[in-house]
Amino acid sequence: MNQQGKNDYSVAYHIRPEFGLLNDPNGLVRFKNFYHVYYQLNPLGFNHKHKSWGHVYSEDMVHWKRADIALHPDAWFDKDGVYSGSAVEYQEKIYVFYTGNVIDQEGINRSYQCLAVSSDGFTFEKMGPIMEHPKGYTRHVRDPKVFKLDETVDWYMVLGAQAEGLQGDVLLYRSANLYDWELISSLGGSNQLDYGYMMECPNMIKVDGQWILLVSPQGMEKEKYLYQNIYQSGYFTCDITEDKEIILTSEFVELDHGFEFYAPQVFDDGVRSILYAWMGAMEPAKEASLPTIEHGQWSHNLTVPRELHFRDGKLTQQPWRKLTSLRDFKGGIQIHIDQQYEMSEFSLQAEILLEMQTSCSHLSIRCKDCFTFKADSDRQELSLERRNWLSGKPEVRVIKYEAEIKNIQVLCDNSTIEIFINNGETVFSSRFFSDMDERKVLEILCPNAVAELEYYPLAVD
Ligand code: FRU
Repeated sequence: MNQQGKNDYSVAYHIRPEFGLLNDPNGLVRFKNFYHVYYQLNPLGFNHKHKSWGHVYSEDMVHWKRADIALHPDAWFDKDGVYSGSAVEYQEKIYVFYTGNVIDQEGINRSYQCLAVSSDGFTFEKMGPIMEHPKGYTRHVRDPKVFKLDETVDWYMVLGAQAEGLQGDVLLYRSANLYDWELISSLGGSNQLDYGYMMECPNMIKVDGQWILLVSPQGMEKEKYLYQNIYQSGYFTCDITEDKEIILTSEFVELDHGFEFYAPQVFDDGVRSILYAWMGAMEPAKEASLPTIEHGQWSHNLTVPRELHFRDGKLTQQPWRKLTSLRDFKGGIQIHIDQQYEMSEFSLQAEILLEMQTSCSHLSIRCKDCFTFKADSDRQELSLERRNWLSGKPEVRVIKYEAEIKNIQVLCDNSTIEIFINNGETVFSSRFFSDMDERKVLEILCPNAVAELEYYPLAVD
């Protein structure tokens, strides 16, 4: 899937649409010899209409092949959008669950939770809606994510919802056969609604023995160091009671602190939990002026696949281990840094690894006109700055951070940056747009400190 064009800001190793607008990752599954990634796609333009399921597949989650659109909005129950959903493998078939969006004659959106089945991952038979609309909820009920709680025959599904009181909720369903579903509990039913007016894209996952509910709430109030983006994505640790109620056992923790990260979906590839997210939701005016539209006729990409772990009470995210196969060792640099380092030919398609040997109170990694990441231990802050492509002015995301920085891994892909701090305990993901014809200089400052730096251009063949 060679997608690189000159100065079109094209990502080389991230999943993007060939043409049109991409949003949420959908239906993540490992089936037979392939990983399949489907994604929300408007194949006709750059707004949020005509949603279909775009499709790419891969043997290694590094090199991707593009397939035809897997699901089109062509049935009465999904005619205005094949919205987000998930996949499971059962009896050598892929079962996908998604939300059919229908705008009725009065212009009101209806949602149907639907099933489609495939024996190869490429062509699907639509089975239509599989459940009644739940009572007490507005039409904002969507994004079914199916999973197993244990080894029994039962399947479970979490569904994002808006209660009639306009609070976000998550509903839990059970089924023995994937066709008949029964609503068994909800966060609202156990008085745990405090997170905005809608919860999109829930995922129930078990990571290193800990149950986690991942959600993308809308309507959380901005705070000094929290909830800076238009919509949030994060998680709660949770328990599941004998009566199959999800009990939240932590506060809401944001998964990413950059400008673009939304609607993550996690799947288990048989060995580990892997997350992809949309990079990401933004204000409509900013979205409409994304430079990739003018230069390449596409908007948005997914994050790289990230391996999840639960360590010391926190969910960590690290780039999928096989991405190291992209490292161009010949063009690489491995160097000991004392105080500062300047690289005059920095490739924007590269990986940077920094291992601090001593503590540093004012660390910064900067590529002029692209991004500046700073860790300031006096203020106990981490920040990422970039230029807003609409206003031309700098903008920044800042979080409170009390721990010492031990290591940083940066993945850069022409117009994206993902920064993994302290083994992925904290992550910043963002787009950035600079003049790609200009020579890029990378500057690392670590006053009164020393660090080991590894740098590799990343080559996709
Ligand atoms: C999240 C979301 C989902 C919905 C899909 C539609 O970004 O709004 O809730 O299913 O996008 O594209």
